[in-house]
Amino acid sequence: MDTVIPSEGKRVAVMTGGGDCPGLNAVIRGAVKTGVRKHGFSMLGIEDAFSGLIDPNYRSPHGNIQLTGPVVRDILARGGTILGTSNRSDPFRYVIEEDGVKREVDISARVMENFDRLGLDALISIGGDGSMRIAKRFMDLGMPVVGVPKTIDNDLAATDQTFGFDTAVQTATDALDRIRDTAESHDRVMLVEVMGRDAGFIALHAGLAGGAHAILLPEIPYNIEPLVKRIEDRRLRGQPFSVIVVAEGAKPMGGAESVIAEKLGEMPRLAGAAQRVTLALEDHIESDMRVTVLGHVQRGGSPSCFDRILGTRFGRHAAELVAAGDFGKMVALRGGEIVGVPIEEAVNKCRRVELDCQALQTARAMGVVFGDEV
Ligand code: F6P
Repeated sequence: MDTVIPSEGKRVAVMTGGGDCPGLNAVIRGAVKTGVRKHGFSMLGIEDAFSGLIDPNYRSPHGNIQLTGPVVRDILARGGTILGTSNRSDPFRYVIEEDGVKREVDISARVMENFDRLGLDALISIGGDGSMRIAKRFMDLGMPVVGVPKTIDNDLAATDQTFGFDTAVQTATDALDRIRDTAESHDRVMLVEVMGRDAGFIALHAGLAGGAHAILLPEIPYNIEPLVKRIEDRRLRGQPFSVIVVAEGAKPMGGAESVIAEKLGEMPRLAGAAQRVTLALEDHIESDMRVTVLGHVQRGGSPSCFDRILGTRFGRHAAELVAAGDFGKMVALRGGEIVGVPIEEAVNKCRRVELDCQALQTARAMGVVFGDEV
């Protein structure tokens, strides 16, 4: 066991923001074990992202959660986050309602005051690009912050991979295996819609692992004809079933993503992409079709071994950056090593599936259709 250095005595806050994903608890545990046992930090878990700093007593009069060894015991394999999360608590764009009218206000000054009042020396913010953007703005106001990148979408450019992605791909692949069984039994065309927002990584990787016959990505606007041809070619070859993976952000050539709801202070909600493909196919093929939307099943569940290890390494490294006073950094996986990179790198660059990447070329070599072929 590492030697405790109690003299440091830093008071460190930890929070999880944005959508949850498998591995968040592994990061919390990694940071707390390193911070408390090695560096003698006192650690405070902030509840529901910034909600617990906007009002430190908003959940209970005791205020937030003291993160000690016993609190993080047995959480490594648990999905979700013991701290709770929110994607509606951006203090710079906080939504309030007055006389039935909603508007956004900046309450970042209140958060800075509460940070001081709680005697905090640092914040470890675990979140996606939105959370990193907020973390960067607080850093500019003088808050010492270290970021940890999370998202099942794997769309942060600053790290080779985010934790949560591996588990989400495994979940989607398990579903595709099941869908394939029933598709084959009934000679059906089955469309499976997966998450990922504007990035097609989950769709591409699960499609590859699950042996999909077509994959529609946000990065490649699709035409319906190549899909029709693939389904018909298979039917003529004596395989009258097909499995098509549709990213929720997929869009037809010349069209837009399927957005079902837009609310003040929130990201537009995507849904209906696979249903739209079904409607377009109906005019061209006789096959019976069914749509399965995997949705939030991809966000929950016990993290894979990869995500447990990556989360633990990220958490440990974040605590080490705090101990070293190396703020304004986000931990990242680069070439197998965990390093600290400037938070703005995560904020300014999102990652998308590159059209010449090997994973995509491999899928094409397997006969997978992406809807861009003529
Ligand atoms: O960013 C993660 C993600 O799961 C996306 O893949 C998805 O579009 C979105 O969050 C769903 O968000 P919510 O939980 O707010 O519906």
